[in-house]
Amino acid sequence: MATKAGRPGRLKGLQAREGQERTGERPVHGPCTFIVFGGTGDLARRKILPALSRLRHGGGIDDDTTILAVARDKGMDDRGFRDVVRQAVEDDGMAAKEIEDWVEKTVFYQGIGGGTPEDFKAVATRIAQLEKERGQPPNRIFYLALPPNVFPATIQGLGEAGLSHSTTGEGNGTKYWTRLVIEKPFGRDLQSAEALNQLIHKYFDESQVYRIDHYLGKETVQNLLVFRLANSVFESLWNRDHVESVQVTVAEELGVEGRAGYYEQAGAVRDILQNHGIQLVSLVAMEVPAMMTAEFIRQEKVKALRSIKSITPKNVVLGQYAHGEISGQTIPGYREEPGVAPNSRTETFAAIKLEIDSWRWQGVPFFLRTGKRLKNRLTEIVVKFRKPPVWMFTPLGSPELHRNTLRLTIQPDEGFALYFHIKAPGKPLKLERLPLDFFYKERFQELPEAYQTLLLDVMESDQTLFVHADEVEAAWRLFTPILDNTLAVSFYAAGSWGPKESDELMQRNGQKWSNRE
Ligand code: BG6
Repeated sequence: MATKAGRPGRLKGLQAREGQERTGERPVHGPCTFIVFGGTGDLARRKILPALSRLRHGGGIDDDTTILAVARDKGMDDRGFRDVVRQAVEDDGMAAKEIEDWVEKTVFYQGIGGGTPEDFKAVATRIAQLEKERGQPPNRIFYLALPPNVFPATIQGLGEAGLSHSTTGEGNGTKYWTRLVIEKPFGRDLQSAEALNQLIHKYFDESQVYRIDHYLGKETVQNLLVFRLANSVFESLWNRDHVESVQVTVAEELGVEGRAGYYEQAGAVRDILQNHGIQLVSLVAMEVPAMMTAEFIRQEKVKALRSIKSITPKNVVLGQYAHGEISGQTIPGYREEPGVAPNSRTETFAAIKLEIDSWRWQGVPFFLRTGKRLKNRLTEIVVKFRKPPVWMFTPLGSPELHRNTLRLTIQPDEGFALYFHIKAPGKPLKLERLPLDFFYKERFQELPEAYQTLLLDVMESDQTLFVHADEVEAAWRLFTPILDNTLAVSFYAAGSWGPKESDELMQRNGQKWSNRE
């Protein structure tokens, strides 16, 4: 069944949701106030406001949901912010008139200036006032679409202003809820992530916390579990007996896109591998959960992360792009980008071999790589199955081609392809390796944006696609050995597939990257 753009179907509770669509029932959650800190910022404009608009437009969330943006600009007001929402929606390709029926009535703005305790009290007062005026229950979502350096002060500000508790209605005993949504990056190493978790847990219970990794909201990432667990033919092969190696690639054509200030401090390991990359690895590597619930799935992911052996420098390649060419365009090197130090050692590429100490994956290398300014945009998981024990046919190209291979493409060209061998008709005997494939866009109208899925999940209190405190700490623990800036960084030409050392890492392990030209 094609998924409607406004109302993404999720991994959990699919049957219930199908039922609802058939009977035309209202969404399962009631109205709430959605408070976006950083409401006028880049992330809010590009992702959050368009996603909320699409959800509303498609009937995914209640029409009464109040949106309150909180930002530093005390000169802005409700009217000014409504124009920000209209512009964000237009930039997303939807006509602003489509949202007129709710934008005037349900969108508001509160300036927070320097974020003093009084500022937070003013936010608390405004929320209570809006709930009263609009006759709404005190169900609240605090979304921190902020630079990471202000997470702690904001969490503390919310807590100290008494905004972190879920409440119970006086006299009627009704349970109201308060949830906290935090964007990445969650800390910059294990220590800072632990400190942030401690601060959060001082004011919020883990069940109230939704740590975003937008890759988990991507439809094709969620499909990974369905692909594995709903198709016994694959799950029965998903282990060391049949799989020779796994590759995970998160390749971008884009550079740092004006975010040098952040990226210089982050680099590819912190920006992608520690979160998006390792999430993909854990979904491939995890054991089958007892049930498809947030608790069980997250437990298995943490277990998989903890089973990965400590990363050793010989299994790591870091790179930085030098000038080059992508799609006929000359691209300056990273060090020539505005805001980047001329002698910067920040890595824009990282490739790592991971070894998993588990019964399922012992001896099966997982190769994980990411890079900016690479040849193509491609996020993909490639599972290489073992060769037949004896190859009985004339060689088919390189020995590499003698394997069955499964490509799960997360983006673009979302779908999968399983490569297998057939006999080409006629004589002499000749083999060909062909894909059996499926592409989302050939079968479904439109894939929902990751943020649509994730926002709806927060409203419906489904934490499955969010990162648990233990998980984020396990991921930082894993990368700790390579965060100290002591490893060599090799150059690669923009528009290539990374430094030659990355290919050498594969060769040393009898493997080859599965690139797309
Ligand atoms: C973000 C990173 O988390 O993910 C960016 O900070 C990166 O550097 C982006 O470009 C990639 O996301 P997507 O959805 O375009 O693959």
